[in-house]
Amino acid sequence: MKVLDFGSLNIDNVYSVDHFVRGGETISSEKLEVFSGGKGLNQSIALSKALAGSGILVYHAGAVGKEDGDFLLTQLEEAGVDISFTARLPVKTGHAIIQRDRTGQNCILLFGGANQAVTEEMADEVLKDFEAGDFLILQNEISQIGYIMEKAHEKGMKIFLNPSPMDEKIAGYPLEYVDCFLLNEIEAAGICGIEEDAASKEELLDQISRRFPDAQIVLTLGGEGSMYKKGDFIAKQEIYKVPVADTTAAGDTFTGYFIGGIARGESIEEALDHGARASAIAVSRPGAAPSIPDRDEVEKMGKKG
Ligand code: RIB
Repeated sequence: MKVLDFGSLNIDNVYSVDHFVRGGETISSEKLEVFSGGKGLNQSIALSKALAGSGILVYHAGAVGKEDGDFLLTQLEEAGVDISFTARLPVKTGHAIIQRDRTGQNCILLFGGANQAVTEEMADEVLKDFEAGDFLILQNEISQIGYIMEKAHEKGMKIFLNPSPMDEKIAGYPLEYVDCFLLNEIEAAGICGIEEDAASKEELLDQISRRFPDAQIVLTLGGEGSMYKKGDFIAKQEIYKVPVADTTAAGDTFTGYFIGGIARGESIEEALDHGARASAIAVSRPGAAPSIPDRDEVEKMGKKG
């Protein structure tokens, strides 16, 4: 079995600020740091680390700019990810402008760049090397998501969708092909077509699960942990509390470790627990991809309860 993450690669420009800049306001930042990031790249690295020693290889497909994106490919390779399906294009690499405030919270502005230059032909070229039962992991930061889902479904691949960032394109994707959604409350409410605070988290989980009865649903709840539902089976996971340095990529780390756990044959409870431990370690460190822990660190962290 192979794991393919078809997703974004970004250069993250992280500005440390006292508070997020408001409309019409100009503020100075205290520090600028540049990290590798992008939801796709972060999740590939988390997946690869989660799968260490399992013999299952993670492939990253996507695109960077050939002038400025090579360090992102190096980061993937150093984490054991196969990059033979990642193109180098004559455009700018995608980037993110991230404000990180004193409490470690962030807000993110994206420039798609090469991530939005993925074509149907590129997708066909990648997918021809994958087959029924292989895992496909998608977020919402590249072009051609709907097409990739159609083709992967035709092949019988197992589709995991993290519909982030949420936007109007999501409703146009063939969501009925998704085997597992990993999403937060805003994304779940958006997909159900309701206001964010119109339903409790239990109602939201129930609504999305009724809309996609064959799919596994993982609802992430920030400081309140996460919930899983498939049919009548429900599991809950609390967070591991740690001092917060930077929340960037916490969700990506959780996603990679959860899916990696499923690929390794862990129970749902174990996969949720590994996701929670890994994301706790990630928030205790600065940056996106560089904050993602190795599997042995995750194993060594004391298990909750
Ligand atoms: O989820 C965090 C990521 O979102 C950052 O690395 C940034 O690049 C954006 O894609």
